[in-house]
Amino acid sequence: METKTIRNKKTILLRKAVPEDAKMIVDYLKKVCVETDNLSFGLQDMPITVESEIEYLTAIQTSTTSVHFVVFCDDEVIATSIISGKSRPRMAHVASLGISVLRDYWHLGIGSLLMKAMIDWAKAGDVIRKINLSVRSDNQVAVALYRKFGFRYVGTLHDEMRVDGQSVDLDEMELLFDDHD
Ligand SMILES: CC(C)(COP(=O)(O)OP(=O)(O)OC[C@H]1O[C@@H](n2cnc3c(N)ncnc32)[C@H](O)[C@@H]1OP(=O)(O)O)[C@@H](O)C(=O)NCCC(=O)NCCS
Repeated sequence: METKTIRNKKTILLRKAVPEDAKMIVDYLKKVCVETDNLSFGLQDMPITVESEIEYLTAIQTSTTSVHFVVFCDDEVIATSIISGKSRPRMAHVASLGISVLRDYWHLGIGSLLMKAMIDWAKAGDVIRKINLSVRSDNQVAVALYRKFGFRYVGTLHDEMRVDGQSVDLDEMELLFDDHD
């Protein structure tokens, strides 16, 4: 658990999510997916319910390959991130990453705090050796954030997502831990 005063002078709390956070997380996701078109879902097709979130958070509490972080400010969830591992032994060293922050809190360093927390967590677990992610090719802030943490561009998947009928390209990025990490 980490408390920090951010650039707007407010205090935030960053910690691993627990099943009791499920409703607040779902309320957060309903808000953030309306604020941005950068996610893989919108409000109409939100794939997560309170029940599914409770089930998921319960299942990953002791996982060494999947984790969900939440950031609170004024008792509200304002950001979340997720590292999602794979169960097959041949793929167990590979995880994928997702992150979002409420618009009112962009550019305050919260995305960077979450990225550091996730990468530190993954490295400490000693199972994950690489992290993959997909990002809209036109999402310059997210791409800059990922590059800052060492992710490198792998390639572009064209017409990989459609938002309101508009074709969107996605960049694939990866971070490989070296053996000394
Ligand atoms: C992408 C997102 C998570 C970034 O979160 P954030 O809290 O605003 O990020 P930070 O404040 O830590 O900034 C991270 C980096 O982004 C870059 N950045 C910030 N503002 C920027 C701007 N206006 N233009 C370009 N790059 C910018 C910088 O590299 C910055 O690092 P620095 O502050 O050390 O220079 C957030 O904008 C978001 O949730 N967007 C909507 C959902 C989304 O796009 N998620 C990613 C899906 S792949």
